[in-house]
Amino acid sequence: MCGIVGYIGKRDVAPLLLEGLQRLEYRGYDSAGIVITGKAAAGRPGTLKTVKAKGRVRDLEAKVPKRFAGTTGIAHTRWATHGAPSDENAHPHLDAEGKVAVVHNGIIDNASELRAKLVADGVAFLSETDTEVLVHLIARAQAATLEEKVREALKSVEGTYGIAVLHADFNDRIVVARNGSPVVLGIGEKEMFVASDVAALVAHTRQIVTLDDGEMATLKADDFRTYTTEGSSTTATPTTVEWEAESYDMGGHDTYMHKEISEQADAVDRVLRGRIDDRFSTVHLGGLNLDAREARGVRRIKILGCGTSYHAGLIGAGLIEELARIPADAEPASEFRYRNPVVDPDTLYVAVSQSGETYDVLAAVQELKRKGARVLGVVNVVGSAIAREADGGMYVHAGPEVCVVSTKCFTNTVVAFALLALHLGRIRDLSVADGRRIIEGLRRLPDQIGEILAAEDEIKKLAEEYAGAQSMMFIGRVRGYPVALEASLKLKEISYIHAEAYPASELKHGPLALIEPALPTVAIVPDDDLLEKNRAALEEIKARSGRILAVAHREQEKADHTIVVPKNENELDPILMGIPLQLLAYHTALAMGRDIDKPRNLAKSVTVE
Ligand code: AGP
Repeated sequence: MCGIVGYIGKRDVAPLLLEGLQRLEYRGYDSAGIVITGKAAAGRPGTLKTVKAKGRVRDLEAKVPKRFAGTTGIAHTRWATHGAPSDENAHPHLDAEGKVAVVHNGIIDNASELRAKLVADGVAFLSETDTEVLVHLIARAQAATLEEKVREALKSVEGTYGIAVLHADFNDRIVVARNGSPVVLGIGEKEMFVASDVAALVAHTRQIVTLDDGEMATLKADDFRTYTTEGSSTTATPTTVEWEAESYDMGGHDTYMHKEISEQADAVDRVLRGRIDDRFSTVHLGGLNLDAREARGVRRIKILGCGTSYHAGLIGAGLIEELARIPADAEPASEFRYRNPVVDPDTLYVAVSQSGETYDVLAAVQELKRKGARVLGVVNVVGSAIAREADGGMYVHAGPEVCVVSTKCFTNTVVAFALLALHLGRIRDLSVADGRRIIEGLRRLPDQIGEILAAEDEIKKLAEEYAGAQSMMFIGRVRGYPVALEASLKLKEISYIHAEAYPASELKHGPLALIEPALPTVAIVPDDDLLEKNRAALEEIKARSGRILAVAHREQEKADHTIVVPKNENELDPILMGIPLQLLAYHTALAMGRDIDKPRNLAKSVTVE
């Protein structure tokens, strides 16, 4: 969703900001804008120059005049919440005098009330956005410094924000503030950057400072300082981001999705690296901040996430029950937070999120912490809001995931859950032999992923065959059901083909009525204790003339086609069975000419409700 980028230094700012916005495009947006401070004559205030455009960053770039010089500026990609996508509603927003400019991520909850008061005071609004309220509040603040003006304005505001502010009368600085929406400072040599996402910074600096909620910062070309919204100074020590700028490039692939699917063997290798302890047939997970005694005291595990991360959590819950014999389940965080959940002190809560920013997950974590629960994070983005809010956790080390749909991060998250399950199991009753069996299985994963990816051409042919379907059914049982759920989500997200996922055991309780030749079924059929049951489901479908594509460990007679995947340990099979279905969704969408990396109506990080 919305993205912020800002710069103050000596370089020509417009190209830098436009490049930064391009790096944030993956988050999803509908309009973009830029404001810079023009050169000021000595002792005279600067002027703000703005360009905004509905559409893509390239549409904005086309509108930027040739003479648009300046060395300080802020820019934004907007995802409409208050007011339709339009030039007027695009950020930055400016006051009537054109002195104050604000870009904002998040939502101001009391915007209508504040707007009514400002209108009654004679303020004329130029947009329908909640953000414009903030601009007028800053412009009208009586305080002497820009920092105090922003602080004064923020006192009236309820809601979430990551903001960057420019003021023509204070053109040696950018003031930023954070409450619920990420703000990251990039520290350079005699230049400073700000962004809502490190993706916009890593091409220029890997030294970053992540602001906390309630924190503000002043950036000058050769200096920065951080302080709270109450005004007291805070200490900010820059850390080094491990992701390099090249990790955000397409690397010779036609889409980020293809690149990210192809990276999975290496990504899995990374999540395992340095964690396996062969001596005790377990894994080291120091970041959990949970000692063995505390881990033994856990009576239940509740996993919370949204979308794909929720599906990874469902597989995770299964792994925890199987390996650690701790009752575990997963629930969409977006539902959990609205049902006044009973929070039990013996339950360990696990929040799962690729971005670490998803608002529904973050809000669930905050609600749990408020009620005194212990929450772990299973997160990809280091230093993200959910990672910081949790009491401990694990990074899944998938590397940056740019495509809106999640692939490598799903796989790595499930592997991370396997590690957690093994760790908890070995603290409890999982035998050394079983621990070793799982470790050996985990070690086989990267090569086996390589084998699956090598069969891409065959999967592509199948995808072209199924691309004409109006609707598809995905089925699986127990370990296979979350795989079916995730595969069906992947297909609908990027191909827009309607797809449903059902437990195979539920077919005869209703969905069997849908089966006919025009509705293909993708069936997850692992060679495990449920093989015969799964085969019975294939018989049921075949008897109704349904077409079947099976994902299995050997050819399935009843299926029209089988994608054969390498066998691992029963518990780890779901990790591999999802991968060919990522490729199936990819090639189906490609055959249909879809915009794979930026599917319609979706954003990478859902930072609003
Ligand atoms: C994944 O393909 C989806 N686009 C989406 O379901 C995503 O997984 C969900 O919004 C949660 O995101 P997160 O993992 O960053 O929290």
